[in-house]
Amino acid sequence: MYMENTEKRLLSGLQPSGELTIGNYCGGIRQFLEYQKEYDSFLFVPDMHTITVPQGDPKLIQERIRRFANLYLACGLDPANCTFYIQSEVPAVNQLAWILECHTYMGELSRMTQFKAKSEKQTNVGCGLFTYPVLMAADIILYDSNVVPVGADQKQHVELARDIAERMNHKYGDLFVVPEPIIPKVGAKIKDLQDPTKKMSKSAEDTSGIIFLLDNEATIKKKINRAVTDNDGYVAFDEEKKPGISNLITLYSALSGTPLQQAIDRFTGWERYGDFKKEVLEVIYETLRPVQAEYERLSKSDYVDEVLDRGRDRANEIANRKYDLVRRAVGFGR
Ligand code: AMP
Ligand code: TRP
Repeated sequence: MYMENTEKRLLSGLQPSGELTIGNYCGGIRQFLEYQKEYDSFLFVPDMHTITVPQGDPKLIQERIRRFANLYLACGLDPANCTFYIQSEVPAVNQLAWILECHTYMGELSRMTQFKAKSEKQTNVGCGLFTYPVLMAADIILYDSNVVPVGADQKQHVELARDIAERMNHKYGDLFVVPEPIIPKVGAKIKDLQDPTKKMSKSAEDTSGIIFLLDNEATIKKKINRAVTDNDGYVAFDEEKKPGISNLITLYSALSGTPLQQAIDRFTGWERYGDFKKEVLEVIYETLRPVQAEYERLSKSDYVDEVLDRGRDRANEIANRKYDLVRRAVGFGR
């Protein structure tokens, strides 16, 4: 095995589509920040994946990438523990993707659930949407990633990356580490405040039930005050019968670090929803205040460029070495 790392590697990517929400914070960002200490961690912005579906103004994509990067740093991403980079700044990923495409079957890609779902919504489906999972496999195996934390919807893609890695290893000798997906524990699935039966999603059209990490306090207050509850007149945790209240308790627990049962015990029986919402509001403010202040500070500086430049350099170094091995293994060049 041509493996160069001894420490286990963790890699994940986060698409810059929509703006980051408090749901992303509870379910995704916090988890990644936890993991970053235990592994040699890689986090990147998959800008190349973003254009697999039609996008608007390219300038907006760039602005979003910057906001994402600054927000991640503001939330506590530690550049000393984590290689943070932008996908398109590592050309070897594209070079590897081509080789992998030639070792991936049409049938495999046709079975991908996300491709089926997304292609149904479009008339002219780009080839990139079809080969998207191959680029993702290249993202993962180029760095000998051991573990890949993703949402449940991406599990199938990580499994395909495993299949491709194994196929390549079988044909050319041990070239790649076979990655494992990590699916985050449930319990941190924050629901939409206006429709607490569905997930709070950064790409939803109606934003009245979504708290964004950069919302100001007046906006957050309005959204919490209008959050859908029920007419029972007492607080209790019951996700089936009282989804709105239960979601707010979950949010309180996740943000304050109070174990869920303890939060339930604290609020059960409260009769005034307004008082309860005030407590929820307070922990949201407490969580977001330092993040927003740090974001303000960072976005006025060039620090993010320093971090991303360093990330790009380290990523390229590792990626180029690996690509060179693969290129020679398949017989390219002289
Ligand atoms: P997405 O916004 O769907 O691209 O997901 C990005 C990351 O945030 C994933 O790791 C998700 O698990 C997490 N995430 C997204 N929405 C929520 C939510 N409503 N509650 C908890 N975690 C979420
Ligand atoms: N497709 C992933 C998403 O939509 C983003 C992504 C691209 C990714 N490449 C990856 C995630 C490699 C993990 C590993 O969320």
